[in-house]
Amino acid sequence: MRLLTWIDARFPASKLWNEHLAEYYAPKNFNFWYFFGSLALLILVLQIVTGIFLTMHYKPDTSLAFASVEYIMRDVQWGWLIRYLHSTGASAFFVVVYLHMFRGLIYGSYKQPRELVWIFGMLIYVALMAEAFMGYLLPWGQMSYWGAQVIISLFGAIPYIGEGLALWIRGDFVVADATLNRFFAFHVIAVPLVLLGLVVAHIIALHEVGSNNPDGVEIKKLKDENGIPVDGIAFHPYYSVKDLVGVIVFLFIFSIILFYMPEMGGWFLEKDNFIPADPLKTPEHIVPLWYFTPFYAILRAVPDKLFGVLAMGGAIVVLFLLPWLDRSPVKSIRYRGPLFKIALSLFTISFIALGYLGTQPATGLYTLMAQIFSVIYFSFFLFMPLYTAIDKDKPVPHRVS
Ligand code: HEM
Repeated sequence: MRLLTWIDARFPASKLWNEHLAEYYAPKNFNFWYFFGSLALLILVLQIVTGIFLTMHYKPDTSLAFASVEYIMRDVQWGWLIRYLHSTGASAFFVVVYLHMFRGLIYGSYKQPRELVWIFGMLIYVALMAEAFMGYLLPWGQMSYWGAQVIISLFGAIPYIGEGLALWIRGDFVVADATLNRFFAFHVIAVPLVLLGLVVAHIIALHEVGSNNPDGVEIKKLKDENGIPVDGIAFHPYYSVKDLVGVIVFLFIFSIILFYMPEMGGWFLEKDNFIPADPLKTPEHIVPLWYFTPFYAILRAVPDKLFGVLAMGGAIVVLFLLPWLDRSPVKSIRYRGPLFKIALSLFTISFIALGYLGTQPATGLYTLMAQIFSVIYFSFFLFMPLYTAIDKDKPVPHRVS
C-alpha cells in the first residue's frame, strides 16, 4: 500500500482505476449483447500478441513470404498454433465486431449523447478492414495476390487521378515486392497503432457519457444522495466478473473452431491461398473473405465501375451518419414502433444475403438479387429520417426493467 501511495503521488493509478472500473457505474440490466465490447478488446490483444510472434519468423519478401508461412506452420515450434490463432482470430474479430455493431443498432446506442462513441467505433471498423485487407496479402498466396490486385485497381476508376493513385498505392505497375513491403509495414505497426488509439478514444468517449442499455434509459438522470445512479452498479467487480463468463464461453467456442476447423472449409482461409502467388495465372473466382463480401456484392451489383466503387464506399459512409438519420426519440428496439422493426429486419436480411451473394459468381440471377438487396440496404438509411419520425413508438419507462 505504501508503494501505491508513492505511485499515486506521481501517477493517477488509483484515480484511473476508480474512474474506469471500481467507480464506473454501468446500468444493471446489461444482457448477452453487452459481452462483445470486452471480447473485441480480448481479440485485439490476441491479434497483437500472436502477430508479434509471427513477425519473428515471417519474411516480407515476394520470393520468401509464402515459404516462410509454411515454415511457421511446419517447423516453428507451436507455429501452427500461433498462425491459426491469428488467422482464425481475424474472422473471430469480425464476428464479434459485427455483433457489437448490431447491438448498437437494436438499442440505439449511436444516438445522442453517444454519437462520438459510434463515430470512433466506425473509424475502428474502417481501420480493422484496412488491417485485415493488408494482412491477407502477406502469405503471398494466389488469393492474397489477386485480391489485392482487384481491390487496388478499383482506385483506378476514380477520374483523372485514379490510375496514378493505384500506382502510388502499389508502388509498382502491378502488385509486387514494393506492395508487400509497405503492406507489411502498415499491417504490423501503422494500422495497429491507429487501432489502439481509436479504441482508447472509443472507451474514453463511452465513459464520459456512460453506457446505454437494453432499455435505452439514461441511468444518469436518476441518482441517489451519493450521486450514484440508482440503476447503476460498479463495473468492477460486477461486470468484470460477468465479462469473464463471456470470455470463458468465447474461448470455449473459439478453441473448438481453432483446433477442429481453423480454416472453416475455406471461409477463414481460402483454398486458393495455399497456392503460391502467380502473376501469370488468374484464379477462376476472386473472392474476398466473408467479412468483406456484403460490400463486394454491392460493388459488383452496379454495372459501372466508378458507380460501383462509389456505392461500395457509400455503403460504409452511411453507417457513420446513423446518429443523424434516426429521428426517433426512443433508443431501444423494445419501445420502438413497427416501422423501425420491419426496416431493421429487412436491413439485416439484406446484409446477410449480400454477404452470401458476394461469395458467388456475379452472373444472371445472382446479380439481380444483389441489386435488389443493395436497394434495400440503402433504403434502410435513406428513408430512416422518414419512418423513424412517423413510427408509433411505445412509452419508455423511467427505470430500467
Ligand atoms: C476493436 C474493436 C472494438 C472494441 C475493442 C470496442 C470496445 C468497446 C467496449 C469495451 C465497449 C463497452 C462494453 C460494451 O458496451 O460492449 C464498447 C461500447 C460501444 N461500442 Fe465498441 N468496440 C469496438 C468496435 C466498435 C465498432 C466497430 C462500433 C460501431 C461502429 C462500436 C460501437 C460501440 C457503441 C455504440 C458502444 C456503446 C454501447 C452501449 O452503451 O450500448 N464499437 N465498445
